[in-house]
Order: sequence, then C-alpha cells, then structure tokens
Amino acid sequence: MAAERRVSSATVRARKGTRFPVVTAYDAPFARCVEASGIDVILVGDSLGMVVLGYDATIPVETDDMCRHAGAVVRGTSRAHVIVDMPFGSYEPSDSGAVRTAVKLVKCGATSVKLEGGSPRAAERISAIVQAGIPVVAHIGVLPQTAAAGAGFRRKQDRDVLLAEARAVTQAGAFAVVLEMVEPAIAGELTATIDIPTIGIGAGPACDAQVLVMHDLLGLYAEAPPFAKRYAELATVATGALRSYADEVRAGVFPAST
Ligand code: KIV
Repeated sequence: MAAERRVSSATVRARKGTRFPVVTAYDAPFARCVEASGIDVILVGDSLGMVVLGYDATIPVETDDMCRHAGAVVRGTSRAHVIVDMPFGSYEPSDSGAVRTAVKLVKCGATSVKLEGGSPRAAERISAIVQAGIPVVAHIGVLPQTAAAGAGFRRKQDRDVLLAEARAVTQAGAFAVVLEMVEPAIAGELTATIDIPTIGIGAGPACDAQVLVMHDLLGLYAEAPPFAKRYAELATVATGALRSYADEVRAGVFPAST
C-alpha cells in the first residue's frame, strides 16, 4: 500500500483564516501521541536544546542534532507536516550555506524548514531556500537564537518594524510565519495584513494558529514561560511511577515470584 501523503505546505498555507494547533515534538513516541491527538502540524524546534538536551539555550544545537530528532519524529508519524528548525549558525552566513542546511534537513525527513529573522538578510535566505524547492516557515518577534546576546526576551511592540518584517518574509516566499511574543494587538494587525498563516506563541489569540513547546504544555519542563498553559503534570506522574517502581524493588515486591 502506498504511504499516506503528508500534509503539504500548500495545505497549511490554505488554512489562512482558520484556527489550527501546532506543537513541538522531538522523538517518535511523543510524535505518535501528537498525531493520535489530531494535530497534524509538528515543529521540531531547536528548543530541543533546552527541553531535551539539557542546554540552557538553543545556541549549542547543531544541524546533526536537528536531523537526528527530525528523523525520529518523521518515523513516529505518517501524515503530519514536520517543520524543522534550522539551528543557530547554519543559515546566517550565506545563501548557499542556508540551502545546504535546508537540503540536509529535508533528506532527514523535514517537510519544511524554519529560520529566525525578518531582516533583509533573513528574507534573502528564505528566498534562496524557497527557490531550491524547499518550503520555509519564517519566525519574527522574539528570536530565541540571538535574544540573549541582543534584543532580549521582552515582548515586541515596534509595529512598523514588525509589519515590514512580516511583509518581507511573505514576499520572500515563506508559507507561514511564527510570531513569538509579539504584542497581541500588533499580532492581530499582522494576521489581518499578510496572506500567509501567522502561528503565534505568546502573541495572543488573534493569530491564525498557535504553537506551544510540548514539554511546557505537558508539565515536563520546569522553566516554561508564563504564557505556556500547562495541560498536564507529566513530570509529577513520571516521578511518582518511578518512585513506586523503586519502592517495589527495594521491598522485594517486584518482580513477583512465580
Ligand atoms: O524552537 C522552538 O520550539 C520554536 C518555538 C518556540 C516556536 O521555535
């Protein structure tokens, strides 16, 4: 039987004006849960660095890390559109380097790639990757890869800059754009202005889509940002189960004799 086709970038783009969920995943078992929940757009974010690899920023994440985890997510799903983050340092210096990284991520299974920034240089990289035949999601507002060294993690309120960036990435060929920590009224204006879906994170309810980091919403990451609603406390559940197992081994209850 032919493999089921994945949700395409054209399909995601056509969701402009509808509300749809996006969530991160980094491995096969949780990606399976995402698909079982009915969510069909997954981001393998470079938040991987913090929530899975134990770094305190996204900067140390390498393209090989993204490839390995993207492959796991792809193997754990059959239909989902899998967006894969291009990590810090893998696309900024040149168009040719950016295309090389994007091609590598597609070979690992990415349906599309995402890069941070709305500057003219970022728009150039987006355009080069799109011209190479690879769909791109843009990311403006707070840019975690460079926030610590530059503009910081404060909510973005510069309407004119954000509007110019949103227009630039749309014109460069991005099929969707993440708005991270953009003032909600401005996020609403951007959403009404550009013709590609906006995917909000900490940017209020007016965006077309919302994205959350899975480990934040499941209660698996202690340092979740305040806008990330927790829908479960899996760290507590996991610790409890492990404690029960340890207690039973120590007490000679597990394994049962028979
Ligand atoms: O890396 C990531 O998970 C992201 C989301 C926060 C949008 O870029």
